Amino acid sequence: MRQRVVSGMRPSGRLHIGHYHGVLENWVKMQDSYDCFFFVADWHSLTTEYADTSGIAESTREMVLDWVAFGLDPSNCVVFRQSLVPHHSELNLILSMITPVSWLERNPTYKEMLDNIEQRDLSTFGFLGYPVLMAADIILYKATRVPVGHDQLPHLEITREIARRFNHLYESVFPEPEALLTETPKLLGLDGRKMSKSYGNSIYLSDSAEETSKKVLSMMTDPARVRRTDPGDPDVCVAFNLHRIYVPQEKLDEIIPACRNASIGCVDCKRILVSCMNEKLAPCRAKRQELAVNPAFVDDLLREGSQRASLISDAVMNEVRAALKF
Ligand code: TRP
Ligand code: SF4
Repeated sequence: MRQRVVSGMRPSGRLHIGHYHGVLENWVKMQDSYDCFFFVADWHSLTTEYADTSGIAESTREMVLDWVAFGLDPSNCVVFRQSLVPHHSELNLILSMITPVSWLERNPTYKEMLDNIEQRDLSTFGFLGYPVLMAADIILYKATRVPVGHDQLPHLEITREIARRFNHLYESVFPEPEALLTETPKLLGLDGRKMSKSYGNSIYLSDSAEETSKKVLSMMTDPARVRRTDPGDPDVCVAFNLHRIYVPQEKLDEIIPACRNASIGCVDCKRILVSCMNEKLAPCRAKRQELAVNPAFVDDLLREGSQRASLISDAVMNEVRAALKF
């Protein structure tokens, strides 16, 4: 039996290359060796976006176009939307009954967001319960592996505790899912800060070749390399982080000494990067454009995927209700 993987992303719109190398690329690889369920966590978006939900539908569409264009194969994994499988909500309710508030209050992500986010009022029941909904998402499919980044580890620990508590109180229905840590260093954005939509420093998967070129040419390099004649250091160069991903090793072996002895200028060096990036991204970008032509593509895909997911979740909920003697 293959291990079952469940993972979700909140609908955040078009994905940038940091999302790709941090998460999506890993999902794509897992499709062949695990029984995979990947979903749009639109109910999770409500925990922070409840006052303005207008962007969620469009963000869902853009994100799923990226998922499929850049390698998720809906015939090889189940791609669905959380809110189309109401069992997530039913299980969330049941799990909320057995989850001590203290587990949620000591969650470091909760405390941090409550302290740092001032534009929104996050003192809601739903926001406190974020990890309970996430636990429901995962154990509803009896997942055994959950690919997550470091930031989500506390949530996964709560999931394991909730599953354990359910099994202990009623019947042993749920496996305790293990984290599959995605060990990818944070990708830096154009300005040298972490690549993030909110900083406006991102290169998107769906950017055109021209946009990519413009962005890369504006990207920070080695801040100490002021004049063309100054020697540079690829190890502190912001752009060079992308070279390492996109430029073939033989080429890097030429660029590194050329940068250190100032025989190559940053503009030429970044042009090499641009052409490698655009070459690598072109086929998926073309596929994305084809998929986007059909306005029903994403809706149809998510509807079908959600029906497939429901087959599993329905059976698990029957076990849950039986365990509760309902
Ligand atoms: N909390 C995750 C995030 O913010 C998204 C998410 C929701 C998730 N439910 C999940 C991830 C279940 C893995 C499994 O990125
Ligand atoms: Fe960075 Fe290339 Fe400029 Fe060196 S030559 S500082 S590696 S952009």
